[in-house]
Amino acid sequence: MGNKIPVGILGATGTVGQRFIQLLEHHPWFEVAWMAASDRSAEKVYTDACKWRLSTSLPARIASMKVSPSVPDGAPKLIFAALDSAAASELEPKFAAAGCAVVSNSSSFRMQEDVPLVIPEVNGDHIELLKTQKWYKQNGGFIVTNPNCSAIGLVMALAPLHRRFGVEKVFVVTMQAVSGAGYPGVASLDILGNVIPYIASEEQKMEAESGKLLGMFNGNKIIPADLSVSAHCNRVPVEDGHTESVSVKLRRSAKADEIISAWNEFRCIAQKLKLPSAPEQPVIYDPAPDRPQPRLDIHRGAGMSAVVGRLRPCNLFDWKFTVLSHNTIRGAAGAALLNGELLKAQGYIT
Ligand SMILES: NC(=O)c1ccc[n+]([C@@H]2O[C@H](COP(=O)([O-])OP(=O)(O)OC[C@H]3O[C@@H](n4cnc5c(N)ncnc54)[C@H](OP(=O)(O)O)[C@@H]3O)[C@@H](O)[C@H]2O)c1
Repeated sequence: MGNKIPVGILGATGTVGQRFIQLLEHHPWFEVAWMAASDRSAEKVYTDACKWRLSTSLPARIASMKVSPSVPDGAPKLIFAALDSAAASELEPKFAAAGCAVVSNSSSFRMQEDVPLVIPEVNGDHIELLKTQKWYKQNGGFIVTNPNCSAIGLVMALAPLHRRFGVEKVFVVTMQAVSGAGYPGVASLDILGNVIPYIASEEQKMEAESGKLLGMFNGNKIIPADLSVSAHCNRVPVEDGHTESVSVKLRRSAKADEIISAWNEFRCIAQKLKLPSAPEQPVIYDPAPDRPQPRLDIHRGAGMSAVVGRLRPCNLFDWKFTVLSHNTIRGAAGAALLNGELLKAQGYIT
């Protein structure tokens, strides 16, 4: 294990759990020391419990590790959680109560008043909200969350505009990849050659989480940003990468080159602290008329950048554009890893 910090993965066998394993394989600070999943997988070796679905090989050390039951006994302090939301609602508080730092992907606690919902580039200062949690006060345990996979791309594109010009209204239509539904997800006969104009609770999550993410932390709680978001969410037959068509109304007028500069110049604490998973450029504007595209652009910034394109005037609001982000990296495991790195850099994990 050397000098690396041991970490655990809850939900290690799932779509996001596998991404954690992939992203942690050569991580400079963290090393996987413990993995857990449901009773179906517990006590099996990982390679027997999990159908590995990523294009990189399953690391040999992980393949032979045993999957533990999802109980805190024997778990390390830092836990990356990729559980179904029903399981997360029950299990994450148990780990926090046992003193663990739970860095969660699930929606269960994102909107709870004392739980930070964090994108380090957007609202890294919100992390301090964890100090108000009862577990933190009792024994140093806590829950920190990252946003829904379609909210994260939207908010990364909105944050630079919100800072410089203020965002008042947002209309967004998503085209979301099948991997966003986990494995096995949507049946192939339902999605091949088709579009499904419904993803349960997704629109509500995008609308609510955007306000919390762009809100202000006043030292005790988050004051949500004063903006309204209308989201239409669709599942499309794309493997990875959520594409979103966005129209925005700004509080102050802005020219196209000012908006593009706001995106390209956007940097924050994650870049200043040189966190290992922080992309050099979190928001990349691509001037080509037909980009971004999932097949061509999801791996930009190692899957951690939001790629924006097609900025043009909007007949209803002020401007419209397209944003793309990798749903299982920037929208899930990579987002949580970056939150874990921020927690370590700020002394919450020792
Ligand atoms: N996929 C994405 O793009 C994405 C993006 C953002 C957020 N998320 C969120 O991340 C979480 C995981 O999503 P996913 O796509 O990875 O789902 P998934 O592929 O269905 O994996 C779910 C994981 O949870 C485990 N699990 C299920 N029930 C459990 C229980 N009762 N006790 C302990 N473990 C249990 C499963 O273990 P077994 O294998 O043993 O059943 C598996 O490891 C969800 O909350 C999801 O909303 C997903």
